[in-house]
Amino acid sequence: MTEQSPKQWRRAKVKINLDALSSNLGKVREYAANSQIMAVIKADAYGHGMLSAAKVLIDADMFAVAMPEEAYALRSDGCTKPIIVLHGFSNVTELQAFSELGISSVVHQQFQLDCLLEAKLASAIDCWLKIDTGMHRLGIQVDEVDAYYAQLSMCFNVADVFLMTHFSHSDVTVNINNYNQLSSFINVINNVDVSCSMANSAAIMRLPKSHFDVVRPGIMLYGASPFKDVTAAELGLQPVMQFESMLIDIKVVKAGESIGYSSTFTCDKDITVGVVAAGYGDGYSRHAKSGTPVWLNDKCCDLIGRVSMDSLCIDLTGVDAKIGDRVVLWGDELSVDEVARSCDSIAYELLCSAGAAHSANR
Ligand SMILES: Cc1ncc(COP(=O)(O)O)c(C=O)c1O
Repeated sequence: MTEQSPKQWRRAKVKINLDALSSNLGKVREYAANSQIMAVIKADAYGHGMLSAAKVLIDADMFAVAMPEEAYALRSDGCTKPIIVLHGFSNVTELQAFSELGISSVVHQQFQLDCLLEAKLASAIDCWLKIDTGMHRLGIQVDEVDAYYAQLSMCFNVADVFLMTHFSHSDVTVNINNYNQLSSFINVINNVDVSCSMANSAAIMRLPKSHFDVVRPGIMLYGASPFKDVTAAELGLQPVMQFESMLIDIKVVKAGESIGYSSTFTCDKDITVGVVAAGYGDGYSRHAKSGTPVWLNDKCCDLIGRVSMDSLCIDLTGVDAKIGDRVVLWGDELSVDEVARSCDSIAYELLCSAGAAHSANR
């Protein structure tokens, strides 16, 4: 028996279409023609492979990642674009590394301001002051902005200061929170003359007033829709991740018999069942309900029963199938958004999970 690489351990495969990624970036330019683009490539580019995504997103003006380690990995890989760390630094050692590597930091708390005021950095870093206009995650309060801004702009260790905030409801276009957040941000930025950023994917496509100087697309780059009522294809986006596997068995299960763990699906008639080599160990959601679409030979079949670690079952009624046939879990033939809805989830989560399960194979 020869030793095998992790690539050969799995039949389920994730393939990344980098041309689609580049085309989606082009769409961002069309939607926000007058803004710079901060491409969000955190969480391994939403499961698509951060380093290869960064190389393809050459036309982005800058990159955003969540954590310092992601920024270091980009710099080690030769990335020379501006990189913004959304969580910022969490100690002086990280701040010094940012300075040495030319990495920009989000500043969202007093501790970070204190570090910047006290440090002796080799070179000053750019800072993005994050304002909490209603998300109540990271960010300083609106009434603290003037004081933070004044101290940062005078600080010897700070090169340029920019302002940013983040929507909590931008996937729902008509929502009072969006308008409240937007007007709150506009009030703040009226007092200062610096570059500002607010819009994520949903706001890029539906709230042009929030574009300002820099937009921050994430999910739209990867070809999924942030909206429930519009598909990615209708938005002009192309799927980047193709998640596929194969049929490993076909059998007839009699009426009255149940399928899979805990008997969550019982056959109301004799059913031809296909077993697919993909499960939650491959990053497919265990929360996928019976009825979740799975594509095989030009048809969408229903998933039936509970998803197992390395297999799932589908209803092959009316489908001409044989063992070894290609099965698409999502990708060109079936949108990840549609699958996500059946899992009570969102494309973001599905893409990250499948990408993480297959990262060793890239
Ligand atoms: C601060 C920030 N900006 C932009 C984005 C990109 O959002 P989306 O993927 O919805 O475009 C994210 C993603 O979570 C984020 O946290």
